[in-house]
Amino acid sequence: MTTTKFPENFLWGGATAANQLEGAYQADGKGLSLPDIMPQGRQRIEIMNDPQFDFSMDESKYVYPNHVGIDHYHHFKEDIALFAEMGFKCYRFSIAWSRIFPQGDETEPNAAGLKFYDELIDECLKYKIEPVITISHYELPLNLVKTYGGWKNKKLIGFFERFAQVVLNRYHDKVKYWMTFNEINSAAHFPVMSQGLVVANGANNRKNIYQAWHNQFVASSKAVKIGHELDPNLQIGCMILYATTYSYDANPVNQLAALQANQANNFFCADVQVRGHYPAYTKSLLAREGVALSDLDYTQEELDLIAKYPVDYIGFSYYMSSVVEVTKDDNDTVAGNLIGGVKNPFLKASDWGWQIDPTGLRIALNELSDRYQKPVFVVENGLGAVDEPDANHYVADDYRIDYLREHIEAIRSAIDDGVDVMGYTPWGCIDLVSASTGEMAKRYGFIYVDEDNAGQGTFKRYKKKSFDWYQQVIATNGDNL
Ligand code: BG6
Repeated sequence: MTTTKFPENFLWGGATAANQLEGAYQADGKGLSLPDIMPQGRQRIEIMNDPQFDFSMDESKYVYPNHVGIDHYHHFKEDIALFAEMGFKCYRFSIAWSRIFPQGDETEPNAAGLKFYDELIDECLKYKIEPVITISHYELPLNLVKTYGGWKNKKLIGFFERFAQVVLNRYHDKVKYWMTFNEINSAAHFPVMSQGLVVANGANNRKNIYQAWHNQFVASSKAVKIGHELDPNLQIGCMILYATTYSYDANPVNQLAALQANQANNFFCADVQVRGHYPAYTKSLLAREGVALSDLDYTQEELDLIAKYPVDYIGFSYYMSSVVEVTKDDNDTVAGNLIGGVKNPFLKASDWGWQIDPTGLRIALNELSDRYQKPVFVVENGLGAVDEPDANHYVADDYRIDYLREHIEAIRSAIDDGVDVMGYTPWGCIDLVSASTGEMAKRYGFIYVDEDNAGQGTFKRYKKKSFDWYQQVIATNGDNL
């Protein structure tokens, strides 16, 4: 074990997303967003991918957990005070696009929506917590999906630009750290959340995924341009889902397949957003997916913009690694982040089948740092587990502490390897609605929220054992794990 110190300015904190915790889904003029119509359950993505899906709700049949979230909209002062008590140096959250532009295509923002984020940001600053803002975290205004068909439509570039302009203009002197799109590359597996694409509006046609990505790359560069023109010191990152990808064995066929899976799933989006140009393997990757470059609608002006405004750092989520084996078709498979894959015999998995691999995080940090030579920020990591509170609502979550300890240790080792790591914001620092299944029962937090899968409960907050543990991790700057 290394005794390397974490940097003095290391950003310890936690991460959330508006749609998964705020609730108040129609308060103060907020419009419907895509996650507002996502039903609860392990089949939520499947239900939305029914070819007949028409983006409407059926409250007689389904629960819509994002409507109430954990009612953070009305509890944010209490929640931020708890984060401050843990010693957070930063707090990563997102701005719900449909609070600011309820339909997504208006020309003027909704003042009441902005007021909420004014107060939230000021509350963080009151405790010297640096806000880290994801501009778009899986929360497209529903109208942009229904009327425009999601991100495959170039009009969304302009709508996003207007949204980014409003929030960057308003908060640039209070917020230094930003990210443009959460897990932009997740569309390789599930384009619904980041691109607003389901089978009914074209998700099965891979051309649409690549067109949507291109439009998002342009939109992301526009946000970087706006931000840097306001203040060159702003740090605006990309955010990718990273699952360290191994070949199952030394068979060169599997090694090649793992390399190609890495290009397709982990690196493609970041290659464009960080380096400012499409990678050399683009044509062959697209060809493997049955897409020709000539199928895509792009201009030289857009490519120039992408080249001129790359991101400043690489934010990434890390929950699991994945294994590639292409020579057999009877491999044991596992679940995980809607990615799945071949079972790794060396790893244990979470209650939801996500393979736990702290060494994979050290590898990820090295791979990203070597490839891009820019700072990296672990903006999501954590263990989704079933917590069982005692009669006093106390959860002795040693399993979560073990998971986090091992991953923090891996970050320390990567720092020792020479990687410039900006910070660590474990996911769901307070229990919230799961993105992949919509459950409350899948908990990540240091803070237990008394609420069940049906959205029933007192909504009271209780500190788990991991709360005290993380408090002393931060207090000792990671010395005491
Ligand atoms: C990431 C997302 O994929 O993983 C979060 O950015 C999400 O929004 C997190 O909540 C954990 O996934 P889940 O499905 O357990 O909530």
